[in-house]
Amino acid sequence: MHDFIKPYSVALDLRTGILKSYKKKVVVKLDDLREFFYDKDAVERTLCRASNPIIYEYYDNFQPDVKGHLNFGVTTINPGKIGSEYYMTRGHYHEEQCASEIYVGLKGEGIVMMQTKEGLSAHSSICRGKVVYIPSFWAHRTINTSKEKLSFLYVYASDAGHDYETIRQKGFAKIVVEKQGLPKIIDNPIFIE
Ligand code: F6R
Ligand code: MN
Repeated sequence: MHDFIKPYSVALDLRTGILKSYKKKVVVKLDDLREFFYDKDAVERTLCRASNPIIYEYYDNFQPDVKGHLNFGVTTINPGKIGSEYYMTRGHYHEEQCASEIYVGLKGEGIVMMQTKEGLSAHSSICRGKVVYIPSFWAHRTINTSKEKLSFLYVYASDAGHDYETIRQKGFAKIVVEKQGLPKIIDNPIFIE
C-alpha cells in the first residue's frame, strides 16, 4: 500500500518551541509575500534597502496526501512589521474545504485571523498553552504581535491542500496593525469582497 507508514515520534522542546526533527523546512521571505501585506510601498521600501527578511518558517512532518493521515509541524514567525502591519503568514483556505486544523501555541503571542467565503470574520489570540481550533471552511492566517518569535504546533489532514490564490487576490477582510504601540484589528483597506 503506497500510504502505509510506520508509527514514529519526534521531540518537541516545549520551552523553546523547537521541533527537533522534520522532513521539510520552508523559509518564507518578504519577497514571497509582496502581494500579502497591504502597504505595498512599505514592502518595496524594505526590499530596496537590499533587505529581504525572513518573515516565517515552518518545520513540516508531512505524510502521504491521502485521506486518513495527519500532517504536523511547527511554524515560527519572526517579530517585526512591514509599515504598521505585523509579520504574518500568507494565509489560506484548505483546498479540501472539509478539513479543519488545530494550532497549539508554544512561544510568543499573536492572533489567528479567520474568515469564510460567506463574509464571516473571527479571530483568536494564540500564546503558550493556548489551543486554537480552525474549523473546516475557515481561511486562516497567523500574525505575530509580540516582540519575540511566535511559535505554534499545527496538525491537519494531510490531504487538505492549500488554496493561497483566493487570499492572494482578495486578501483578508481584517488585518492587524500597530497603533500607538498596541496591536489593533482594522478593516483591510484593499480587501476585495
Ligand atoms: C497548514 C497550516 C500551517 C501553515 C503555516 C504557514 O495548513 O495552516 O501549517 O501552513 O503556518 O502558513 P501558510 O501556509 O499560510 O504560508
Ligand atoms: Mn491550514
